[in-house]
Amino acid sequence: MVDPFESRPSPKLVFGNGVMKELPNSIKELGITSVLLVTDKGIVKAGHVESTRALLEGEGIPVHVYDDVSENPTENDAAACCAFAKEIEFDGFLALGGGSSIDTAKACNFLLTNGGRMSDYHGYGKASKKMLPFIAIPTTAGTGSECQSYALVSREESHEKMACGDPKALARVAILDPDITDSQPRSVAVQTGIDALAHALEAAVSTKRTELSSMYSEAAFRHIVRAIDDIVDHSVQGDDRGHILLGAALSGLAIENSMLGGAHASANPLTARHDIIHGRAVAMMLPHVMRFNDQDPDASCIYSRYTSILSELDVSDKSLIDWVTDLTGRMEQIAFSADEEEIQQLATEAKQQWTGNFNPRPLELSDFVELYRAALALPEPA
Ligand SMILES: [Fe+2]
Repeated sequence: MVDPFESRPSPKLVFGNGVMKELPNSIKELGITSVLLVTDKGIVKAGHVESTRALLEGEGIPVHVYDDVSENPTENDAAACCAFAKEIEFDGFLALGGGSSIDTAKACNFLLTNGGRMSDYHGYGKASKKMLPFIAIPTTAGTGSECQSYALVSREESHEKMACGDPKALARVAILDPDITDSQPRSVAVQTGIDALAHALEAAVSTKRTELSSMYSEAAFRHIVRAIDDIVDHSVQGDDRGHILLGAALSGLAIENSMLGGAHASANPLTARHDIIHGRAVAMMLPHVMRFNDQDPDASCIYSRYTSILSELDVSDKSLIDWVTDLTGRMEQIAFSADEEEIQQLATEAKQQWTGNFNPRPLELSDFVELYRAALALPEPA
């Protein structure tokens, strides 16, 4: 029997090497006459902003550039982008960059069209007024933010991540051009690639999974596994960029139609309290959360199916969990430890993460403590 479900909309996906040149058409199709391009200084330095400006101005589309996006944008970052937006005339957003640029553009769209502060939109469906059309162009392959209706914005003081979602915040078009991901630093490619893998694997077993999200998760996994070994080993070649970029977008759609789970719930406090980069923190936790989830018969059955995919695609003969453990173990390791008091604090914050509620096995405080001990290879206290 197929369980009932409701699908969430997808942006129009425009995929392929060189599809950036389609951007002016997409802008015109949406009736946009002038854009606010939201980006960061690294993307300016890589030359993408100038080439995008030339492409659009060549088609008579004026471009205003906001290039002050910060990594892990906060409420104040969103407000600063909105203050800039209020001073100019435009009728559509264009985000060019990683998840932070895409999230900042979405957040600015909330504030500009609906007012208030980002905390007013924490949750889902709280924007009552129309929002401006928005096009997302990821330059890194990982977050899948281009396919999600949530802006992830941190609270100013605590750095707690708020997921602020609304169907109107979803990008209308996502331009997925592997050529423009060439400029991402190798360490960023590894961290975001592992994050995309974690999105596919957490959405695959989430209690919110549906027939449709499962289809997206599996398709995402099939693309990501073809590229991720090369990415982690810094030997990207051939179609790797296309596979990971498409896989990341499909993972985004998997999340949009389901949820994440324990690896993200336990990774977020590591980022908030210790500034550990999101993909790195997720990589620390993912194998341990998967071992924990493997005790759930349904999750274990899904993991077995994914093990068969690894073998079918000639990626690995190992079990899925062993393969993920090896893969994350090959990433550049970081020196991080925590005492018992800190482990308790991390576990307390992890337990409060909304996303943990959709893990296939319920996660109690003591489970998070065990997961952190396992991830940090700490012995049981005497
Ligand atoms: Fe993530």
